[in-house]
Amino acid sequence: MTQTRELHGLLDTEAIRKDFPILDRPVHDDRTLVYLDNAATSQTPRQVLDTMTGYYERHNANVHRGVHVLAEEATALYEGARDKIASFVNAPSRDEVIFTKNASESLNLVANMLGWADEPYRVDSDTEIVITEMEHHSNIVPWQLLSQRTGAKLKWFGLTDDGRLDLSNIEEVITEKTKIVSFVLVSNILGTHNPVEAIVRRAQQVGALVMIDASQAAPHMPLDVQALQADFVAFTGHKMLGPTGIGVLWGRQELLEDLPPFLGGGEMIETVSMHSSTYAPAPHKFEAGTPPIAEAVGLGAAVDYLSAIGMDKILAHEKALTAYAVERLLQVPDLRIIGPTTAEERGAAISFTLGDIHPHDVGQVLDEQGIAVRVGHHCARPVCLRYGIPATTRASFYLYSTPAEVDALVDGLEHVRNFFG
Ligand code: ALA
Repeated sequence: MTQTRELHGLLDTEAIRKDFPILDRPVHDDRTLVYLDNAATSQTPRQVLDTMTGYYERHNANVHRGVHVLAEEATALYEGARDKIASFVNAPSRDEVIFTKNASESLNLVANMLGWADEPYRVDSDTEIVITEMEHHSNIVPWQLLSQRTGAKLKWFGLTDDGRLDLSNIEEVITEKTKIVSFVLVSNILGTHNPVEAIVRRAQQVGALVMIDASQAAPHMPLDVQALQADFVAFTGHKMLGPTGIGVLWGRQELLEDLPPFLGGGEMIETVSMHSSTYAPAPHKFEAGTPPIAEAVGLGAAVDYLSAIGMDKILAHEKALTAYAVERLLQVPDLRIIGPTTAEERGAAISFTLGDIHPHDVGQVLDEQGIAVRVGHHCARPVCLRYGIPATTRASFYLYSTPAEVDALVDGLEHVRNFFG
């Protein structure tokens, strides 16, 4: 076993881990769980679990509809969660925060709004949509659908050999015809942290909207939607200590006022007759039906938990851990990191291949040792095609991850190599 090295800038993981009951459970009878699948979903602290249980035990009711005490309390908790999210991402207004089911729904919502929008936002056959080759399928497929339905041309930035965006042809990719540029802030498969400013500057030059998928950023670093200068930002709750079933779309207020709704139903209207309807102002215009109330309240508690620790401290912890993990993984014979091989401008998800051993076999032998990683194309298959590989093994860290867990992974990979001879 490796002697674990002292790293600087780490959080007090011993104290933090006490808040996460699941991290203490053994797996495969008596193995210690080493949970390195945080990019797929994070674990949930006691504070979030208690908040959600407390919501159902004391306040459960539908929101915005009732005059009774439970309805008023549930509405206050739901709208209070919106305030917390708005402040967490430094939104200029709480009305710019729309609750969705997940980041995929947030991305689909914008793609559909633009398909139905009037000028100047309307995407049609004379216009272009720009994405990148490192997107999650949730930031590819909605735009392919929009392109197929409207005739708009779908274009994308390619990737460099070291897992960065190739922006060398930015002026040909983003043109006067571009209506929207949608890209990921931190890649879920490569870990790459993308250069927002250059893309936003070019998009603004041609009057295109910018959408950012911050699913792998919001959990791990301070996120300031005003500093990003984007028009829309999407992220999801379950990767940032919250429950599943809750996502966020932040959008600039004037856009949300101008753009049409996508889903129709209860609570998104102002008035309805049998002939036509008028709509409530944002955010309610985009939240048809009973929303995920307990989930929003849970996400509010998650944001409280993250803020109490400090997003800058979480970022520093993960940077130190990622630098250590990259260094140690590169010492494993036959291991190839797919993505940046330095800790600069990268997040805490590290994908790799191990010689000719199929990632599914790597994942299974690691699992037998209690080490949970994700294997496959990580819903970003074009990245695997780009690098000529069928799949990768991905280890991803969070605020409770430790250097000892990095060492366990490296030792586990040695075991995988021995196992497959
Ligand atoms: N988007 C999640 C991942 O990358 C599910 O694993």
